[in-house]
Amino acid sequence: CSFLCEKERKYVCDVLCNGLARLEYRGYDSAGIGIDGDEPGSPMILFKEVGKVAALRKHIAEAVAYPPPSDEPRHATNGNSTKIDMNKVFLSQTSMAHTRWATHGVPSPLNCHPHVSDALTEFSLVHNGIITNYKELKVVLLKRGYTFHTDTDTEAVAVLCKYVWDSQPAKRLNFTELVKTVIKELEGSFAFVFKSVHFPDEIVAARRGSPLLIGVKTDRKLKVDFVDVELPTNEDRVNDADANALLAVPSAVSDGRSAVGPKLRRSQSRAFLSEDGMPQPIEFFVASDASAVIEHTKRVLYLEDDDIAHIAEGELHIHRLRRDDTVSSVRAIEHLEIELAEIMKGQYDHFMQKEIYEQPESVVNTMRGRVNFDTRAVMLGGLKAYLPVIRRGRRLLFVACGTSYHSCIAARPVFEELTDIPVAVELASDFLDRRTPVFRDDVAIFVSQSGETADTILAMRYCLERGALCLGVVNAVGSTLSRETHSGVHINAGPEIGVASTKAYTSQYVALVMIAVQLSDDSILKTARRQQIIDGLHDVPAQIRKVLAMDKALQQLAKDMLAKEKSLLIMGRGYQYATCLEGALKIKEVSYMHSEGILAGELKHGPLALIDEHLPVIFIMTRDSLYPKVQSALAQVTARKGRPIIICNEDDDNVPHNAKVIRVPQTVDCLQGLINVIPLQLLSYHLAIMNGVDVDFPRNLAKSVTTE
Ligand code: G6P
Repeated sequence: CSFLCEKERKYVCDVLCNGLARLEYRGYDSAGIGIDGDEPGSPMILFKEVGKVAALRKHIAEAVAYPPPSDEPRHATNGNSTKIDMNKVFLSQTSMAHTRWATHGVPSPLNCHPHVSDALTEFSLVHNGIITNYKELKVVLLKRGYTFHTDTDTEAVAVLCKYVWDSQPAKRLNFTELVKTVIKELEGSFAFVFKSVHFPDEIVAARRGSPLLIGVKTDRKLKVDFVDVELPTNEDRVNDADANALLAVPSAVSDGRSAVGPKLRRSQSRAFLSEDGMPQPIEFFVASDASAVIEHTKRVLYLEDDDIAHIAEGELHIHRLRRDDTVSSVRAIEHLEIELAEIMKGQYDHFMQKEIYEQPESVVNTMRGRVNFDTRAVMLGGLKAYLPVIRRGRRLLFVACGTSYHSCIAARPVFEELTDIPVAVELASDFLDRRTPVFRDDVAIFVSQSGETADTILAMRYCLERGALCLGVVNAVGSTLSRETHSGVHINAGPEIGVASTKAYTSQYVALVMIAVQLSDDSILKTARRQQIIDGLHDVPAQIRKVLAMDKALQQLAKDMLAKEKSLLIMGRGYQYATCLEGALKIKEVSYMHSEGILAGELKHGPLALIDEHLPVIFIMTRDSLYPKVQSALAQVTARKGRPIIICNEDDDNVPHNAKVIRVPQTVDCLQGLINVIPLQLLSYHLAIMNGVDVDFPRNLAKSVTTE
């Protein structure tokens, strides 16, 4: 955050902690904040805590700061603590906060962000992502006498800032130039916020591969000019023969006037300028996710890769790391559509529960304005211009991770049936590992709730480079995937906070079916089938509501038959294979019970060996053309004393009398998975609660996995 208005320290800490709490859903294991010291140039004050943001708040309430790591032995009288005056008022203040999901180094206060360059906190930063060359950087810096106190990759960047600063005897690098020099040395992915005691009241933020946005809160009218400032390029790479590594440090520094090197172009560099030149109240919030800023402002600006944002004296300047004509030079202030209430639990105990219950509305929102139930037509504006290209494509390539991957599996049969185009469904990581051949006439569809999953983004860029048409099916508006794909469809499910995806799955599923229907609307032969699907879509919300009404019975079933089990199989085939995979993923994610989705056609090729009188097996046996085959799989399981729980349609009399049955409404075969997945979501939710799991924050998992 950067504030240009009278605020006390306590207010700033509250803003930071509230922002962190809004990001809790993304998954984390420790949290920290850094705020201004008493005087300009005095060390930053750090609060750090392992565990929840609530623990950090408690720590701050006691106003005892975490000491920056120091090589000096601490005096017993100082101990490790410093009492802080929380009522101190500042006109201008810059502060930073972070929740950490450990990648390098265990969760501990020491490894927690903000990271600092030294005990004086000359440079400090928070970082999302991974710096892959941090070991090489550390070797160079250690040889030059710098010290490290943590196991993290991020600390190397803080120390590198100090090295670049120290290498400038005249100390004439401005903050942006310094950060530019530093990030040129970095490999990997990052979203950074930098702060320095040398540049009090300034913040520099930069991104490559990890999301970053800036919220702006002010009463003044905003004038936004994109700032295309070319920084000096006359850098000498300092060949450090000893250290066997290279560090680029500007050999001479330009202040914009000197004749050394190309001059800075500062023509449009004032983005937010008060009319009378006087400071006016303004607050900037730099965050990785809109939910952290929504309670302060709905005006946000999304940064692109290689943007460097500089905030100082109530002004925001955006610079580019390098010239790139493929990147738009417009950074518009956008108005967020989400409401605070949407990211709050309301009457529900957990976000996951709220989101399961929202599905009758969220699937309607996916279809709103796009499906005409009277004329039985689908029109997705984002795809209209691309329909001929897609239809001529050699292949439809779906790429995604986790639950989003399952929605692609769910929609594959209907694409194959309606479009007659070969379909491949790929897990993004495996797709990249194999360096899968991709051609110019491929149509690649990237499905993602967050639009920020690192593997999916990398796969998209891989396909873009190879000239394929890239489409996104994304929930988060403004996310990297929704910005960088050629076009696509927003699923409009509303913010999803629970780590285990529920409403995004059903909305992705509906969106994909809508795409398949629209693609086939040039085929008269398929008219009847299209109309059947559209009629089916009309009834889906009410049918989901009907299944939600069975919640109490499902809770009882979870208690009686599953809560004490160690393992569970979910079996089905055809359209329901995706439901098996998604149900099993939900159960393992939130209840920690081992659970596997099994294609019933593979039963005899291995899974049958697991069947005995102990192992519970959920059969998905709703009516479609494969019903007899699933029945036969069920018979094989019961013959071996298996314990089936059967999900079947309401009027099905063919189920064994002694089996436990979950009866759901029947819909069109290709939509049945939308209904069948609901009891599995509810079962997983109840199992999690029964097992004492914090269902919105399952251990070791993050909502969006923004690193490879
Ligand atoms: C993580 C989340 C899952 C999600 C997956 C893909 O694993 O915990 O819920 O399905 O990422 O995320 P995306 O945002 O790309 O759909």
